[in-house]
Amino acid sequence: MESKKYLIETFGCQMNIHDSEKIAGMLRNLGYNETQEKSCADIIIFNTCCIRESAELKIMAKIGDIKALKKANKNLLVVVCGCMTQQKGMPETLKTKFPFINIIIGTHNLEELEEYIKKYEQTHKSFSDVWEKEKEIKEHTSVYRTSKFNAWVNIMYGCNNFCTYCIVPYVRGRERSRKLEDIKAEVQDLVSSNKYKTITLLGQNVNSYGLDFKDGKTNFVTLLKELSKIEGDFKIKFMTSHPKDFSFELVDFIASCDKMSKSIHLPVQSGSNNILKIMNRHYTIEHYKELVDRIYDKIPDATITTDIIVGFPGETDEDFIETCKLLEYVKYSGVFGFVYSKRRGTPAEKFDNQIPINIKRERITKLFEIQHAIVKTNSEQLIGKTLEVLIEDKIKNVFIGKTDAGKTIKIKNENLELGNFYKVKISKVLTNELVGEVIID
Ligand code: 5AD
Ligand code: SF4
Repeated sequence: MESKKYLIETFGCQMNIHDSEKIAGMLRNLGYNETQEKSCADIIIFNTCCIRESAELKIMAKIGDIKALKKANKNLLVVVCGCMTQQKGMPETLKTKFPFINIIIGTHNLEELEEYIKKYEQTHKSFSDVWEKEKEIKEHTSVYRTSKFNAWVNIMYGCNNFCTYCIVPYVRGRERSRKLEDIKAEVQDLVSSNKYKTITLLGQNVNSYGLDFKDGKTNFVTLLKELSKIEGDFKIKFMTSHPKDFSFELVDFIASCDKMSKSIHLPVQSGSNNILKIMNRHYTIEHYKELVDRIYDKIPDATITTDIIVGFPGETDEDFIETCKLLEYVKYSGVFGFVYSKRRGTPAEKFDNQIPINIKRERITKLFEIQHAIVKTNSEQLIGKTLEVLIEDKIKNVFIGKTDAGKTIKIKNENLELGNFYKVKISKVLTNELVGEVIID
């Protein structure tokens, strides 16, 4: 008999991508195999995001598309989970709009999904179960990893920061750190498997790792020091950081340790102190710049990326200019720019000085224009430099690799091994990629 098939549609951040790997693990325990074809699926899971309204609208449209499939195949099981369902009132809205959904769960009971599916298979009764509060961390035994050389590893869940624009603390709960030994055991296994060359540690604010233990000794740097003792050829990355908690000690550790990636994601959100204050970010732009200076000073080959929101309520032209100036100051290797989106239940939703959409659009276009020019100059400066590159693919006689900063690089006519790191000298810079040659030392 042919096995049952699953299809997972994932929306949103790396945390969700990794949650989908856990979902896949649970489905495989139940005997399901993956399909890419919706019409072949016995179960379709929507792992949702609600960070911006645009994400929600897209997801709603995708769920709506299932209606016809469900009509043709009454046995198709439709599950909706993730951040969107965790919002107050959303399960009811979803049930009214899409009565064909069979199971709705939230972020706090994802681990129960295997049991919920078993229950549905026995009773064929649709239900919704979204827990209001987080429970203690349940360790996952079955994760079906889908990324090639990178493995995602959760180090903590939730967020305590309540930035005034952000819905995450409401849908992911308070900060809970995984035990250091559990994380270390997982990373050790991943490295020993010889399959993974980068380990990306995940948390909404990794810099506050371990503070909830209140033992006075466990923190993010302690964790990194432990992980870097693991033997093997691999790099440690992490996301996401909060500038208020990114310590100088952490900068110094990254500088001193070969295993640490030198590519740092440091979301600033705005270049204006006025806006940072109303966003409840708890740092000034002077502090942020000091941190950036320290990073470039101690880690000469560091690259920095950031997240920026334009059009936050009350953002004046002058505030926006401050953000543009910051781009020029930091010379980011990448900027994830977003137009502010009102989120239900957040403080900023009620601010009465919302910015008109045409101004938001003008600002985001300007932001990307400035950043585009910076990336071009940054890339041109790479010609003649030697970078460490992970070889990820081969198409005909061209090897495709990634630099530490995530740039694609093509290397011709070399006999290289996939999944290995090489030193590569950059010879040419194209619009979206680099070209280089391997240096044998
Ligand atoms: N509107 C626009 N962007 C947002 N982000 C978070 N909340 C919102 C919102 N309401 C952005 C922030 C964050 C990134 C993951 O998403 O820049 O760092
Ligand atoms: Fe949202 Fe702020 Fe928490 Fe990041 S730190 S998840 S932006 S509340």
